[in-house]
Amino acid sequence: MIDSEKTNGQGDLVLYKRLLGYVVPHTLVFVVSVAGFLIYSLGNVLLADLTQFLLDSLGESTPVSLGLVASAAHWVWPPGDKGALDYARLAVPIAALVLSFGRAMGYFVGNYFMNIVARSVIHTLRTELFGTLMRAPKAYYDKHSTGTLISKLTFNVEQVSGAASDALKVILREGLTIVALVSYMLYLNWKLSLIFFAVAPAIGLVVVIVGRHFRRYSRRIQDSMGSVTQVSGESLGAFDVLRIFGGESNQIKRFDNASFFNRNQSLKLALVEAISTPVIQTLLAFALGALFWFSLDPTILAGFSAGSLVAFITAAAQLGKPVKTLSGIQSIVQRGLAAAEDVFAQLDTPSEVDRGTTPMGRARGFIEIENLSFRYPGAETQALKNVSFQIAPGETVALVGRSGSGKSTLAQLLLRFYAPDAGEIRLDDLIIDEYRLRDYRRQFAVVSQAVELFSDTVRNNIAFGSLSDASYDDVIDAARCAHAMEFIERLPAGLDTVLGDQGAGLSGGQRQRLAIARALLKKAPVLILDEATSALDGESERAVQEALEAGPDQRATLVIAHRLSTIENADRIILLDQGQILAQGSHQELLATSALYASMYRQGTTEG
Ligand SMILES: Nc1ncnc2c1ncn2[C@@H]1O[C@H](COP(=O)(O)OP(=O)(O)O)[C@@H](O)[C@H]1O
Ligand SMILES: [Mg+2]
Repeated sequence: MIDSEKTNGQGDLVLYKRLLGYVVPHTLVFVVSVAGFLIYSLGNVLLADLTQFLLDSLGESTPVSLGLVASAAHWVWPPGDKGALDYARLAVPIAALVLSFGRAMGYFVGNYFMNIVARSVIHTLRTELFGTLMRAPKAYYDKHSTGTLISKLTFNVEQVSGAASDALKVILREGLTIVALVSYMLYLNWKLSLIFFAVAPAIGLVVVIVGRHFRRYSRRIQDSMGSVTQVSGESLGAFDVLRIFGGESNQIKRFDNASFFNRNQSLKLALVEAISTPVIQTLLAFALGALFWFSLDPTILAGFSAGSLVAFITAAAQLGKPVKTLSGIQSIVQRGLAAAEDVFAQLDTPSEVDRGTTPMGRARGFIEIENLSFRYPGAETQALKNVSFQIAPGETVALVGRSGSGKSTLAQLLLRFYAPDAGEIRLDDLIIDEYRLRDYRRQFAVVSQAVELFSDTVRNNIAFGSLSDASYDDVIDAARCAHAMEFIERLPAGLDTVLGDQGAGLSGGQRQRLAIARALLKKAPVLILDEATSALDGESERAVQEALEAGPDQRATLVIAHRLSTIENADRIILLDQGQILAQGSHQELLATSALYASMYRQGTTEG
């Protein structure tokens, strides 16, 4: 479950760089945001400085050390013959208002503009990730469950957003505030400021140690969210099986485990977080204590106005909040980085290999399969061994054989979902890899065992993807041929009825008829039917079969059949067993020569 636990500096640098790359297109907005935060932090310092203006105007000290705000006020609005107290009475409240307003504006601009950057980055990341998934090869989907993939798209990306928006905002805002406060303190009295530099390494150490723990727990939390989505996804989609086979308690246990693991890791993260802040605050308290002790030392006090001492202490006391907030934000940053690592790893998933360069209009549909062998990655035995046969345009070839004999695998290789280990497949004399993948797949219409329907109208489910500009009449024609029109007409809005998730509300046979209509509408030169009519009753199956046979004359058809009765008319029947061709020929020939075929035929199905 937990794959990588390492944290190395080099890797982090690469990670930051890559994340920063996503900010580059929004540089202007980013700069505006930084400017906003700069104004905010300056506001903080100047408000501390204002105390000096106020106190030193009380008359004790020389007017020279009134502080920065006072100097600025004198420059903008010379006091003339006003007394120091009278001047301060007007100038301090006005300055306080102006500074507070400026600080508020800075806060607004900084936060909002940083949100613009962050949300844009998330949007880009999420769409890129989805795009990668849309281009990933089939083997990738064999390895990852849908649940974990969804969790990556939603939870993980959102975690990156936490780091990108909240954390970046806080880091800039509080970081700049710290820099501004410390600079101001150095400016007022550098010796006193050194006290804070003495505790800084200790604080830094706490931050680094805490960060390591945060990252580790964050990775685990992320993985466990993947498990939570996976268990819930498969359980929510399997109502019947769960209730009938009494699987609820088992799934509840699995869900409980995943969620409990998540709880524990989150608690560990919270524990580290809750400990780190008080520790840092205590370190700061030591620094403040030392500050009070030293600041009342007469040698240091010499030449230091009461006002500037108060301003210094105010600034020092103000340091506590940003330091605390910054250390608190670490958990979000580490969570974001852990998620970014994972998101980037997914983004690096190679797309489906397409070395093909030859464009293809419409194929004739001449398929040659020669000495084809294939083993699934990680599988013990070969799914196909040395298979050779041909399908000519206009021919129907049937593949039969017990389940697991490799029939579907052959269709998958034909569609270039996997690459063969040995042997080759040619379409119209060229090895199929040489065609551009998009062009190549356009030559095929497929109806497979698992019907995929989308939550869209019936019409859009038939005229799907590249078929979306099919005319209304063509859609109706295809639906008629697939014997789907009869039930579509009874739906509340006919072809415009919106289907539920995976066509919920339709029967298995109805779903299959929609898939057949979709395949017929494509009018492709090669048609693959992988147990495409298994959910139909005998009568509809024969009718659909006739419609399929009545298709364009020159179509090459590969039928993988469940019931042998439906393929008796095929031009050639190929009997597969354990990935090898046992026999081939017409129905009559096979009956005479193959004992396995004859016994399967007597039982009426290939599932002998
Ligand atoms: N994605 C996969 N990964 C590993 N092995 C697979 C995969 N799909 C099928 N197989 C194995 O390959 C063999 C052939 O499967 P398949 O072609 O689906 O059989 P059929 O369609 O004839 O019932 C079976 O032993 C099956 O377990
Ligand atoms: Mg199959």
